[in-house]
Amino acid sequence: RTLLASGFHAPERGDIDALHEVLIAIGEDGVIRTVTRPGEEDYERALATARETGVLSTLPDGMLLLPGFVDLHVHAPQYPQLGRALDVPLEVWLHKYTFPLEARYADAAFARRVYRRLVADLLATGTTTALYFATVHVEATRILADICLEEGQRALVGKVAMDDPQSCPDYYRDASPEAAIAGTWEVIDHIRSHPANRDGRVRPVVTPRFIPSCTNATLQGLGELARDCGCHVQTHCSESDWAHGYVLARHGMTDAASLDRFGLLGAGSVLAHSNFLTADDMDLLAARQAAVAHCPVSNAYFAGAVFPLRAALEKGVRVGLGTDISGGPISSILDAMRAAVMVSRMLESGVDPALPPRQRSAMVDARIDFREAFHLATAGGGDALNLPVGRFAPGCHFDALAIDPAAEDGTIRLWDVEANDEMLLETILYTASKPNIAGVWVGGAHVA
Ligand code: GUN
Ligand code: FE
Repeated sequence: RTLLASGFHAPERGDIDALHEVLIAIGEDGVIRTVTRPGEEDYERALATARETGVLSTLPDGMLLLPGFVDLHVHAPQYPQLGRALDVPLEVWLHKYTFPLEARYADAAFARRVYRRLVADLLATGTTTALYFATVHVEATRILADICLEEGQRALVGKVAMDDPQSCPDYYRDASPEAAIAGTWEVIDHIRSHPANRDGRVRPVVTPRFIPSCTNATLQGLGELARDCGCHVQTHCSESDWAHGYVLARHGMTDAASLDRFGLLGAGSVLAHSNFLTADDMDLLAARQAAVAHCPVSNAYFAGAVFPLRAALEKGVRVGLGTDISGGPISSILDAMRAAVMVSRMLESGVDPALPPRQRSAMVDARIDFREAFHLATAGGGDALNLPVGRFAPGCHFDALAIDPAAEDGTIRLWDVEANDEMLLETILYTASKPNIAGVWVGGAHVA
Protein backbone atom coordinates (compact mmCIF):
# COMPACT_ATOMS: atom_id res chain seq x y z
CA ARG A 1 0.00 0.00 0.00
CA THR A 2 1.09 3.53 -0.63
CA LEU A 3 -0.31 6.53 1.18
CA LEU A 4 -0.14 10.06 -0.18
CA ALA A 5 -0.29 12.42 2.78
CA SER A 6 0.93 15.57 4.46
CA GLY A 7 1.76 15.86 8.12
CA PHE A 8 4.47 16.18 10.71
CA HIS A 9 6.85 14.11 12.77
CA ALA A 10 9.76 14.91 15.10
CA PRO A 11 12.48 12.36 14.46
CA GLU A 12 15.06 14.36 16.43
CA ARG A 13 14.32 16.19 19.67
CA GLY A 14 13.68 19.86 19.04
CA ASP A 15 13.19 19.56 15.28
CA ILE A 16 9.93 19.34 13.42
CA ASP A 17 9.96 17.70 10.02
CA ALA A 18 7.02 18.90 7.92
CA LEU A 19 5.93 16.40 5.29
CA HIS A 20 4.21 17.78 2.19
CA GLU A 21 2.43 15.28 -0.04
CA VAL A 22 4.88 12.51 0.70
CA LEU A 23 4.43 8.95 -0.49
CA ILE A 24 4.61 6.42 2.32
CA ALA A 25 4.97 2.85 1.09
CA ILE A 26 3.79 0.34 3.69
CA GLY A 27 4.49 -3.39 3.51
CA GLU A 28 2.02 -6.21 4.21
CA ASP A 29 3.56 -6.37 7.67
CA GLY A 30 2.57 -2.78 8.44
CA VAL A 31 6.17 -1.58 8.36
CA ILE A 32 7.11 1.52 6.38
CA ARG A 33 9.30 0.66 3.39
CA THR A 34 9.98 4.09 1.93
CA VAL A 35 9.04 7.72 2.45
CA THR A 36 9.43 9.72 -0.75
CA ARG A 37 9.15 13.48 -1.00
CA PRO A 38 8.14 15.49 -4.06
CA GLY A 39 11.26 16.45 -5.97
CA GLU A 40 13.06 13.23 -5.10
CA GLU A 41 13.94 11.31 -8.22
CA ASP A 42 11.62 8.33 -7.62
CA TYR A 43 8.59 10.39 -6.65
CA GLU A 44 6.75 10.74 -9.95
CA ARG A 45 7.39 7.15 -10.94
CA ALA A 46 6.33 5.81 -7.54
CA LEU A 47 3.16 7.90 -7.64
CA ALA A 48 2.28 6.73 -11.14
CA THR A 49 2.96 3.09 -10.29
CA ALA A 50 0.90 3.24 -7.11
CA ARG A 51 -1.98 4.78 -9.05
CA GLU A 52 -1.83 2.24 -11.86
CA THR A 53 -1.62 -0.77 -9.56
CA GLY A 54 -4.50 0.50 -7.44
CA VAL A 55 -2.52 0.56 -4.17
CA LEU A 56 -2.62 4.33 -3.70
CA SER A 57 -4.74 5.91 -1.00
CA THR A 58 -4.79 9.61 -0.35
CA LEU A 59 -5.37 11.33 2.96
CA PRO A 60 -8.21 13.80 2.33
CA ASP A 61 -7.20 17.37 1.66
CA GLY A 62 -6.56 19.41 4.79
CA MET A 63 -6.01 16.40 7.01
CA LEU A 64 -2.62 15.94 8.59
CA LEU A 65 -0.80 12.78 9.56
CA LEU A 66 1.05 12.53 12.89
CA PRO A 67 2.88 9.54 14.36
CA GLY A 68 0.74 7.67 16.87
CA PHE A 69 1.27 8.64 20.50
CA VAL A 70 3.19 6.49 22.95
CA ASP A 71 1.91 6.44 26.54
CA LEU A 72 4.71 5.09 28.72
CA HIS A 73 2.71 4.78 31.92
CA VAL A 74 -0.88 3.61 32.27
CA HIS A 75 -2.48 1.76 35.19
CA ALA A 76 -5.22 0.03 33.23
CA PRO A 77 -7.24 -1.04 36.30
CA GLN A 78 -7.35 2.53 37.62
CA TYR A 79 -9.43 3.80 34.69
CA PRO A 80 -12.68 3.69 36.72
CA GLN A 81 -11.25 6.26 39.13
CA LEU A 82 -9.90 8.62 36.47
CA GLY A 83 -10.71 12.15 37.59
CA ARG A 84 -11.30 11.38 41.24
CA ALA A 85 -9.51 10.37 44.43
CA LEU A 86 -6.90 13.06 43.94
CA ASP A 87 -7.14 14.50 47.42
CA VAL A 88 -4.62 12.56 49.51
CA PRO A 89 -0.90 11.77 49.33
CA LEU A 90 0.35 8.73 47.38
CA GLU A 91 0.91 6.46 50.37
CA VAL A 92 -2.64 7.14 51.62
CA TRP A 93 -4.21 7.04 48.14
CA LEU A 94 -2.86 3.54 47.48
CA HIS A 95 -4.54 2.04 50.54
CA LYS A 96 -7.66 4.21 50.63
CA TYR A 97 -8.67 4.05 46.94
CA THR A 98 -6.34 2.21 44.64
CA PHE A 99 -5.70 -1.19 46.21
CA PRO A 100 -9.45 -1.70 46.90
CA LEU A 101 -10.22 -0.86 43.26
CA GLU A 102 -7.43 -3.03 41.85
CA ALA A 103 -8.53 -5.95 44.05
CA ARG A 104 -11.83 -6.03 42.11
CA TYR A 105 -10.00 -7.40 39.06
CA ALA A 106 -10.15 -10.83 40.63
CA ASP A 107 -13.49 -10.63 38.79
CA ALA A 108 -12.73 -11.40 35.15
CA ALA A 109 -16.02 -9.96 33.90
CA PHE A 110 -15.26 -6.62 35.56
CA ALA A 111 -11.75 -6.65 34.06
CA ARG A 112 -13.12 -7.36 30.61
CA ARG A 113 -15.66 -4.55 30.82
CA VAL A 114 -13.16 -1.89 31.97
CA TYR A 115 -10.27 -2.95 29.76
CA ARG A 116 -12.40 -3.08 26.61
CA ARG A 117 -13.54 0.51 27.22
CA LEU A 118 -10.04 1.73 28.14
CA VAL A 119 -8.26 0.33 25.10
CA ALA A 120 -10.93 1.65 22.74
CA ASP A 121 -10.83 5.08 24.38
CA LEU A 122 -7.04 5.32 24.28
CA LEU A 123 -6.91 4.30 20.62
CA ALA A 124 -9.52 6.94 19.82
CA THR A 125 -7.34 9.62 21.42
CA GLY A 126 -4.36 8.56 19.32
CA THR A 127 -2.46 6.38 21.79
CA THR A 128 -1.20 3.66 19.46
CA THR A 129 1.35 2.23 21.92
CA ALA A 130 0.71 1.86 25.64
CA LEU A 131 2.84 0.50 28.46
CA TYR A 132 0.38 -0.98 30.94
CA PHE A 133 0.48 -1.93 34.57
CA ALA A 134 -2.35 -4.41 35.11
CA THR A 135 -3.05 -5.90 38.56
CA VAL A 136 -1.60 -8.81 40.55
CA HIS A 137 -4.15 -11.14 38.91
CA VAL A 138 -2.85 -13.43 36.19
CA GLU A 139 -6.24 -13.95 34.55
CA ALA A 140 -7.18 -10.27 34.39
CA THR A 141 -3.73 -9.42 33.04
CA ARG A 142 -4.15 -12.00 30.28
CA ILE A 143 -7.52 -10.44 29.51
CA LEU A 144 -5.91 -7.02 29.08
CA ALA A 145 -3.35 -8.46 26.65
CA ASP A 146 -6.09 -10.29 24.73
CA ILE A 147 -8.15 -7.12 24.41
CA CYS A 148 -5.15 -5.15 23.11
CA LEU A 149 -4.70 -7.84 20.45
CA GLU A 150 -8.40 -7.79 19.57
CA GLU A 151 -8.56 -3.99 19.35
CA GLY A 152 -5.22 -3.77 17.55
CA GLN A 153 -3.32 -1.62 20.01
CA ARG A 154 0.45 -1.99 20.28
CA ALA A 155 0.94 -2.65 23.96
CA LEU A 156 3.25 -3.86 26.65
CA VAL A 157 1.37 -5.53 29.48
CA GLY A 158 2.66 -6.43 32.92
CA LYS A 159 1.23 -8.40 35.79
CA VAL A 160 1.95 -6.28 38.83
CA ALA A 161 4.25 -7.91 41.37
CA MET A 162 3.73 -6.79 44.97
CA ASP A 163 4.20 -9.21 47.80
CA ASP A 164 5.61 -7.43 50.84
CA PRO A 165 3.17 -8.07 53.70
CA GLN A 166 4.67 -5.08 55.54
CA SER A 167 3.33 -2.67 52.95
CA CYS A 168 0.68 -4.49 50.90
CA PRO A 169 -2.74 -5.42 52.31
CA ASP A 170 -3.52 -9.10 52.73
CA TYR A 171 -6.54 -8.75 50.44
CA TYR A 172 -4.40 -7.51 47.57
CA ARG A 173 -0.93 -8.90 47.07
CA ASP A 174 1.05 -11.84 45.71
CA ALA A 175 1.06 -14.59 48.32
CA SER A 176 4.85 -15.02 48.14
CA PRO A 177 7.89 -14.20 45.99
CA GLU A 178 7.39 -17.55 44.28
CA ALA A 179 3.80 -16.62 43.43
CA ALA A 180 4.85 -13.22 42.08
CA ILE A 181 7.49 -14.78 39.86
CA ALA A 182 5.40 -17.74 38.70
CA GLY A 183 2.50 -15.41 37.86
CA THR A 184 4.80 -13.16 35.87
CA TRP A 185 6.02 -16.18 33.88
CA GLU A 186 2.45 -17.33 33.24
CA VAL A 187 1.57 -14.01 31.67
CA ILE A 188 4.78 -13.93 29.62
CA ASP A 189 4.02 -17.39 28.22
CA HIS A 190 0.43 -16.47 27.49
CA ILE A 191 1.37 -13.32 25.57
CA ARG A 192 4.27 -14.86 23.67
CA SER A 193 2.37 -17.94 22.57
CA HIS A 194 -0.88 -16.17 21.69
CA PRO A 195 -1.89 -17.19 18.16
CA ALA A 196 -3.03 -13.65 17.33
CA ASN A 197 0.34 -12.22 18.44
CA ARG A 198 2.68 -13.61 15.81
CA ASP A 199 3.96 -10.14 14.98
CA GLY A 200 4.71 -9.39 18.65
CA ARG A 201 2.38 -6.43 18.75
CA VAL A 202 1.70 -7.13 22.42
CA ARG A 203 4.64 -7.81 24.70
CA PRO A 204 5.03 -8.86 28.30
CA VAL A 205 6.70 -6.61 30.87
CA VAL A 206 8.29 -7.52 34.18
CA THR A 207 6.46 -5.21 36.61
CA PRO A 208 7.54 -4.86 40.23
CA ARG A 209 5.09 -2.18 41.40
CA PHE A 210 7.79 -0.27 43.25
CA ILE A 211 10.45 -1.19 45.75
CA PRO A 212 8.28 -0.37 48.80
CA SER A 213 5.73 -3.04 47.78
CA CYS A 214 8.19 -5.83 46.98
CA THR A 215 10.35 -8.07 49.13
CA ASN A 216 14.01 -8.34 48.20
CA ALA A 217 13.41 -11.95 47.16
CA THR A 218 10.86 -10.79 44.61
CA LEU A 219 13.08 -8.00 43.31
CA GLN A 220 15.94 -10.46 42.98
CA GLY A 221 13.78 -13.08 41.28
CA LEU A 222 12.27 -10.57 38.85
CA GLY A 223 15.70 -9.23 37.93
CA GLU A 224 16.82 -12.77 37.05
CA LEU A 225 13.57 -13.38 35.21
CA ALA A 226 13.98 -10.17 33.18
CA ARG A 227 17.42 -11.32 32.13
CA ASP A 228 16.22 -14.83 31.26
CA CYS A 229 13.19 -13.73 29.26
CA GLY A 230 14.65 -10.61 27.69
CA CYS A 231 11.52 -8.68 28.60
CA HIS A 232 10.96 -5.02 29.16
CA VAL A 233 10.82 -3.92 32.80
CA GLN A 234 8.65 -1.21 34.35
CA THR A 235 8.35 0.15 37.86
CA HIS A 236 7.93 3.38 39.80
CA CYS A 237 11.13 5.14 40.77
CA SER A 238 11.74 7.97 43.24
CA GLU A 239 8.28 9.33 42.64
CA SER A 240 7.65 11.31 45.81
CA ASP A 241 9.95 12.27 48.63
CA TRP A 242 8.12 9.64 50.70
CA ALA A 243 8.84 6.87 48.15
CA HIS A 244 12.40 8.07 47.60
CA GLY A 245 13.04 8.26 51.35
CA TYR A 246 11.52 4.82 51.93
CA VAL A 247 14.05 3.16 49.64
CA LEU A 248 16.96 5.16 51.08
CA ALA A 249 15.95 4.01 54.55
CA ARG A 250 15.40 0.35 53.59
CA HIS A 251 18.23 -0.20 51.14
CA GLY A 252 20.67 2.56 52.02
CA MET A 253 20.75 3.72 48.42
CA THR A 254 18.53 5.39 45.85
CA ASP A 255 15.78 3.62 43.93
CA ALA A 256 17.80 3.70 40.72
CA ALA A 257 20.91 2.22 42.35
CA SER A 258 18.87 -0.45 44.07
CA LEU A 259 16.95 -1.41 40.91
CA ASP A 260 20.30 -1.69 39.17
CA ARG A 261 21.76 -4.11 41.67
CA PHE A 262 18.70 -6.32 41.28
CA GLY A 263 19.24 -6.40 37.52
CA LEU A 264 16.13 -4.33 36.81
CA LEU A 265 17.80 -1.48 34.95
CA GLY A 266 18.61 -1.90 31.28
CA ALA A 267 17.62 -0.91 27.75
CA GLY A 268 13.85 -1.41 27.78
CA SER A 269 13.44 -0.56 31.48
CA VAL A 270 10.95 2.26 31.99
CA LEU A 271 10.93 4.04 35.33
CA ALA A 272 7.80 6.05 36.01
CA HIS A 273 8.13 9.53 37.52
CA SER A 274 11.76 9.51 38.73
CA ASN A 275 11.36 13.03 40.10
CA PHE A 276 13.97 12.68 42.82
CA LEU A 277 16.76 11.21 40.72
CA THR A 278 20.21 12.38 41.76
CA ALA A 279 22.82 13.42 39.19
CA ASP A 280 24.48 10.02 39.71
CA ASP A 281 21.16 8.26 39.16
CA MET A 282 20.77 10.08 35.85
CA ASP A 283 24.25 9.00 34.78
CA LEU A 284 23.38 5.43 35.74
CA LEU A 285 20.14 5.47 33.73
CA ALA A 286 21.96 6.91 30.74
CA ALA A 287 24.68 4.25 30.98
CA ARG A 288 22.09 1.46 31.20
CA GLN A 289 19.91 3.04 28.45
CA ALA A 290 16.99 2.89 30.86
CA ALA A 291 14.17 5.37 30.31
CA VAL A 292 11.93 7.64 32.34
CA ALA A 293 8.17 7.88 31.87
CA HIS A 294 7.59 11.56 32.56
CA CYS A 295 4.10 12.02 34.02
CA PRO A 296 3.74 15.76 34.50
CA VAL A 297 0.11 15.84 35.61
CA SER A 298 0.36 12.99 38.08
CA ASN A 299 3.52 14.50 39.50
CA ALA A 300 1.60 17.66 40.35
CA TYR A 301 -0.96 15.65 42.35
CA PHE A 302 1.09 12.89 43.93
CA ALA A 303 4.73 13.78 43.86
CA GLY A 304 4.47 17.48 44.59
CA ALA A 305 7.43 17.81 42.27
CA VAL A 306 8.42 18.57 38.71
CA PHE A 307 10.66 16.07 36.98
CA PRO A 308 13.90 17.86 35.96
CA LEU A 309 13.34 16.88 32.35
CA ARG A 310 15.97 18.98 30.62
CA ALA A 311 18.64 17.98 33.09
CA ALA A 312 17.87 14.32 32.41
CA LEU A 313 17.79 14.80 28.64
CA GLU A 314 21.07 16.64 28.71
CA LYS A 315 22.61 13.71 30.56
CA GLY A 316 21.42 11.42 27.78
CA VAL A 317 18.55 9.76 29.65
CA ARG A 318 15.79 8.46 27.38
CA VAL A 319 12.45 10.04 28.23
CA GLY A 320 8.89 9.65 27.00
CA LEU A 321 5.52 10.80 28.33
CA GLY A 322 2.94 9.07 30.49
CA THR A 323 -0.58 9.88 31.60
CA ASP A 324 -0.28 7.66 34.71
CA ILE A 325 -4.00 6.92 34.60
CA SER A 326 -5.34 7.51 37.28
CA GLY A 327 -2.59 9.38 39.12
CA GLY A 328 -3.84 12.48 37.33
CA PRO A 329 -7.15 13.35 35.69
CA ILE A 330 -5.96 12.89 32.09
CA SER A 331 -5.99 9.97 29.69
CA SER A 332 -4.72 11.68 26.55
CA ILE A 333 -1.10 12.16 25.56
CA LEU A 334 -2.13 15.50 24.05
CA ASP A 335 -2.85 16.62 27.61
CA ALA A 336 0.44 15.17 28.85
CA MET A 337 2.31 17.16 26.17
CA ARG A 338 0.60 20.38 27.19
CA ALA A 339 1.32 19.74 30.86
CA ALA A 340 4.96 18.85 30.15
CA VAL A 341 5.47 22.23 28.51
CA MET A 342 3.63 24.08 31.26
CA VAL A 343 5.40 22.51 34.23
CA SER A 344 8.79 22.95 32.57
CA ARG A 345 8.13 26.66 32.32
CA MET A 346 7.13 26.87 35.98
CA LEU A 347 10.23 24.94 36.92
CA GLU A 348 12.32 27.51 35.12
CA SER A 349 10.51 30.64 36.32
CA GLY A 350 9.70 29.45 39.83
CA VAL A 351 6.22 29.86 41.26
CA ASP A 352 6.44 32.01 44.38
CA PRO A 353 5.50 35.58 43.41
CA ALA A 354 6.76 36.83 46.79
CA LEU A 355 10.30 36.08 45.70
CA PRO A 356 12.17 38.27 43.24
CA PRO A 357 12.21 36.66 39.76
CA ARG A 358 15.76 35.44 39.83
CA GLN A 359 15.36 33.78 43.20
CA ARG A 360 12.13 31.93 42.46
CA SER A 361 13.79 28.96 40.85
CA ALA A 362 17.23 27.44 40.84
CA MET A 363 16.61 25.80 37.47
CA VAL A 364 17.89 27.62 34.46
CA ASP A 365 17.05 26.39 30.98
CA ALA A 366 14.42 24.04 32.33
CA ARG A 367 11.73 24.74 29.78
CA ILE A 368 10.75 22.68 26.80
CA ASP A 369 8.47 23.75 23.96
CA PHE A 370 5.83 22.02 21.82
CA ARG A 371 8.50 20.64 19.49
CA GLU A 372 10.23 18.75 22.26
CA ALA A 373 6.95 17.65 23.83
CA PHE A 374 5.84 16.26 20.46
CA HIS A 375 9.11 14.38 20.11
CA LEU A 376 8.77 12.89 23.62
CA ALA A 377 5.19 11.81 22.86
CA THR A 378 6.20 9.97 19.69
CA ALA A 379 9.80 9.11 18.76
CA GLY A 380 11.04 9.62 22.34
CA GLY A 381 8.52 7.09 23.61
CA GLY A 382 9.51 4.65 20.88
CA ASP A 383 13.19 5.04 21.73
CA ALA A 384 12.44 4.55 25.43
CA LEU A 385 10.85 1.21 24.56
CA ASN A 386 13.45 0.27 21.96
CA LEU A 387 10.61 -0.13 19.48
CA PRO A 388 10.59 1.22 15.92
CA VAL A 389 7.61 3.53 16.36
CA GLY A 390 7.10 7.29 16.47
CA ARG A 391 8.67 8.26 13.14
CA PHE A 392 7.67 8.13 9.50
CA ALA A 393 10.80 6.38 8.37
CA PRO A 394 11.74 3.11 6.68
CA GLY A 395 11.71 0.26 9.19
CA CYS A 396 9.19 1.92 11.51
CA HIS A 397 5.72 0.52 12.06
CA PHE A 398 3.07 2.62 10.41
CA ASP A 399 1.37 3.77 13.64
CA ALA A 400 -0.34 7.06 12.96
CA LEU A 401 -3.27 9.36 13.41
CA ALA A 402 -4.97 11.75 11.06
CA ILE A 403 -5.87 15.16 12.41
CA ASP A 404 -8.81 16.95 10.85
CA PRO A 405 -8.27 20.59 11.84
CA ALA A 406 -11.63 21.52 10.32
CA ALA A 407 -13.75 18.97 12.23
CA GLU A 408 -17.00 20.76 13.06
CA ASP A 409 -17.16 19.55 16.66
CA GLY A 410 -13.41 19.82 17.15
CA THR A 411 -11.54 22.58 19.00
CA ILE A 412 -8.89 23.62 16.49
CA ARG A 413 -9.55 27.06 15.03
CA LEU A 414 -7.41 28.03 12.09
CA TRP A 415 -7.70 31.56 10.77
CA ASP A 416 -6.47 32.84 7.47
CA VAL A 417 -3.83 34.92 9.23
CA GLU A 418 -0.25 34.27 8.30
CA ALA A 419 1.07 31.04 9.77
CA ASN A 420 3.92 28.76 8.85
CA ASP A 421 4.06 24.97 9.17
CA GLU A 422 5.36 25.03 12.72
CA MET A 423 2.61 27.41 13.85
CA LEU A 424 0.05 25.06 12.33
CA LEU A 425 1.49 22.11 14.27
CA GLU A 426 1.73 24.22 17.43
CA THR A 427 -1.96 25.15 17.18
CA ILE A 428 -2.92 21.54 16.58
CA LEU A 429 -0.93 20.19 19.51
CA TYR A 430 -2.20 22.83 21.93
CA THR A 431 -5.86 22.87 20.92
CA ALA A 432 -6.85 19.56 19.32
CA SER A 433 -9.48 17.41 20.99
CA LYS A 434 -10.82 13.95 20.30
CA PRO A 435 -13.23 15.03 17.51
CA ASN A 436 -10.19 16.34 15.61
CA ILE A 437 -8.76 12.83 15.46
CA ALA A 438 -10.25 11.53 12.24
CA GLY A 439 -8.49 8.18 12.05
CA VAL A 440 -5.95 6.01 13.86
CA TRP A 441 -3.76 3.23 12.45
CA VAL A 442 -1.52 0.67 14.12
CA GLY A 443 0.79 -1.42 11.97
CA GLY A 444 -0.97 -0.07 8.90
CA ALA A 445 -4.39 -1.28 10.09
CA HIS A 446 -7.24 1.13 10.78
CA VAL A 447 -8.11 0.79 14.48
CA ALA A 448 -10.18 3.88 15.33
N1 GUN B 1 3.50 3.96 43.29
C1 GUN B 1 3.14 2.70 43.53
N2 GUN B 1 1.96 2.40 42.95
C2 GUN B 1 1.58 3.50 42.32
C3 GUN B 1 0.43 3.82 41.51
O1 GUN B 1 -0.47 3.02 41.29
N3 GUN B 1 0.39 5.07 41.01
C4 GUN B 1 1.38 5.98 41.24
N4 GUN B 1 1.28 7.19 40.69
N5 GUN B 1 2.43 5.72 42.00
C5 GUN B 1 2.53 4.49 42.53
FE1 FE C 1 1.96 5.03 38.27
